[in-house]
Amino acid sequence: MSTVTAAITAVGGFVPDYVLTNKILETMVDTNDEWITSRTGIKERHILKDSDKGTSYLAIQAANNLISKNDIDPAEIDLVILATTTPDMPVASTGVYVASQIGAINAFSYDLQAACSGFLFGMSTAARYIESGRYKKVLLIGADKMSSIIDYTDRTTCIIFGDGAGAVLFEPNTEGLGLIDEILRSDGAGRQSLKIDAGGSILPASKETVENKQHYVFQDGKTVFKFAVTNMADVSEEVMKRNNLSGEDIQWLVPHQANKRIIDATSRRMDLPEDKVMINIHKYGNTTSATLPMCIWDYENQLKKGDNLVFASFGGGFTWGAIYLKWAYDPK
Ligand code: UT7
Repeated sequence: MSTVTAAITAVGGFVPDYVLTNKILETMVDTNDEWITSRTGIKERHILKDSDKGTSYLAIQAANNLISKNDIDPAEIDLVILATTTPDMPVASTGVYVASQIGAINAFSYDLQAACSGFLFGMSTAARYIESGRYKKVLLIGADKMSSIIDYTDRTTCIIFGDGAGAVLFEPNTEGLGLIDEILRSDGAGRQSLKIDAGGSILPASKETVENKQHYVFQDGKTVFKFAVTNMADVSEEVMKRNNLSGEDIQWLVPHQANKRIIDATSRRMDLPEDKVMINIHKYGNTTSATLPMCIWDYENQLKKGDNLVFASFGGGFTWGAIYLKWAYDPK
């Protein structure tokens, strides 16, 4: 019997219409296009303006895009995993609502939270369900409405994040394609460097926490940058070495889109030219759980069966890792 691997067989994505450009941000906080572009690589990001819509809306659009593009019967989906840091509400899993809304009536569902590594860790989770033989169709969605937790008077964070969603379907493969290897890491020492202080069990919401702006993202950018730039490159290099891959063997790096300088450091370490690196940070900013699937969504037409892809991420917690995956289909 041949070994079963977990392959990505379909991709979808979604961004809301409203575009928040660097020029508009210049009118909101003390910043400028030159600073944002040179320090981060970001030019604009999409924002979900409708106040009555949450992350589920983004996730549903991305999942429906995948379903309609690929003519999939949602009733055949076994499991929906939603990687998110901005669930619709603290209690009642957002993924469960999403699964019902897309017609995945036979699926079970839950949310997975690992900040910017949520989707990467979700790939590992999804793959185990497929490899075990128990489930045949696992839908993994990465979605975040980051604008719901950003202070638009704080120039150190509001220039970075955007809203969006991406989705992939994992199915069994017996040709040796799909997820081949992974290195996943975490370190709780990083929890003070990238966090939201209030609204959890340590500091529940109160009048004071709202007045003190403790429900917004706080980031010690310099510290996070230092850890991200070395750790993302380290694991990417390690996963290559472990699988005897040189830069020439890899067709694509799929990096978390947090900062163009971090992406460049990782690709340099992997000995990859820029044209093998998926980049969309300039148009979406950092969409947290959604950056990796939105890269695949943007580049799907350039991917060929058998291509070697390395996914890499770094995020709050800290959480980070790299995954080596063989692409399973030619452009459809
Ligand atoms: O996705 C999760 C993981 N997150 C990351 O990987 C993010 C990692 N960190 C970063 O990407 C970068 O640290 C930032 C983009 C957040 C900041 O870039 P930096 O080069 O580390 O800048 P800095 O924080 O060292 O700030 C440099 C200067 C400061 O001024 P002084 O103290 O030198 O006078 C800041 O106050 O830039 C100032 N500054 C700004 N200036 C204009 C900070 N934000 C802005 C801004 N516009 N938006």
